[in-house]
Amino acid sequence: MKSRSDDPVVALVAAAGSGSRLGGEVPKALRPLAGVPLVAHSLARLAAGGVERAVVVVADGLQPDFERALSDAPIPWQLVIGGSERQHSVRRGLDLIGRSGPAEIVLVHDAARPMVPPSVVAAVIAAVRAGHVAVVPALPVVDSIRRVDSRGTADGSIVSEVVDRAPLRAVQTPQGFAYATLVAAHDHVARLGLEVTDDAACCEAIGESVHLVPGSRLAMKVTEPTDMVVAEALLAAFGEQVRRS
Ligand code: C5P
Repeated sequence: MKSRSDDPVVALVAAAGSGSRLGGEVPKALRPLAGVPLVAHSLARLAAGGVERAVVVVADGLQPDFERALSDAPIPWQLVIGGSERQHSVRRGLDLIGRSGPAEIVLVHDAARPMVPPSVVAAVIAAVRAGHVAVVPALPVVDSIRRVDSRGTADGSIVSEVVDRAPLRAVQTPQGFAYATLVAAHDHVARLGLEVTDDAACCEAIGESVHLVPGSRLAMKVTEPTDMVVAEALLAAFGEQVRRS
């Protein structure tokens, strides 16, 4: 494994989704959490964890709104227009990162995870620096899980069976990568027209293995309206701790 002790760290923040499940007029990444847009929270946490610059992928037409939202960001950032699917947005962000300076380590983060503790960001960076080319923060699954058979039965009832949750992990962001590996992985996936769930899965498609580090409940993803309420409460209770972690 190659050691990457001095390599610069760039974040690719995916913020081009509409956030339709959250609802409301304002796109999700621009929604205020305690008065600060989600995307600005994300950049502050990434910077505190060791990220040196960021490329933020945004929906076309919203550049002025993101420029305002990020005017106080602690690290330099650039905007790029995203695509119709998350993986297209990430690909565009990777292209800009490659054009705009040295990049050996890239952290791909969902703007929708505004509370990720800097300690998780730092752990992901440390694992990539140690030589792992694809690193993912993950947590054990706490809910009981059932698998449903979407075909159901003749009378319309849903058929389901319990799944052993012990070996399951819920995956969070930021996911950390050797830049060249992630670009090769996205090229491969695009060439074959594969649909992948996340960037780590892209890397597995070219035969790389994924290294897990512990995630955090605070790195929850804001998806539905109740998540905003939970995020507000977490920020009120743990915000200072997150800033110092
Ligand atoms: O839709 P979902 O919540 O899974 O999106 C995860 C992240 O990917 C969000 O931060 C969203 O803004 C981003 N995204 C994107 N481009 C898309 C779709 C989603 O950057 N086309």
